[in-house]
Amino acid sequence: MTDKRITDHPVLGPAPGERLTLWVDDQEIEARSTDTVAGALWANGTTTLRRSRSGQPRGLYCGIGHCFECRVTIDGEPGKRACLMTVRQGMRVETGTEA
Ligand code: FES
Repeated sequence: MTDKRITDHPVLGPAPGERLTLWVDDQEIEARSTDTVAGALWANGTTTLRRSRSGQPRGLYCGIGHCFECRVTIDGEPGKRACLMTVRQGMRVETGTEA
């Protein structure tokens, strides 16, 4: 996966947070300890977080926990809202599941 993060903003400075790794669909990605799961996935190029029952791709929409479009499976627990969950070292995330 590709890191699309701005690592050193000309006004805001370097990206905050410690570097850590998590697993997304069995691929290792890098994140920052200040990232939400959704933010880490977007920074690494994953925008489809789940599929609707008809197979349509779904992803980040409201970003504040209201729409439930960003549900993923985290450490084996389905239905977690990626926009509300902060990443942890070694976290396992599954995307693309029907929900
Ligand atoms: S993007 Fe709406 S609940 Fe996560």
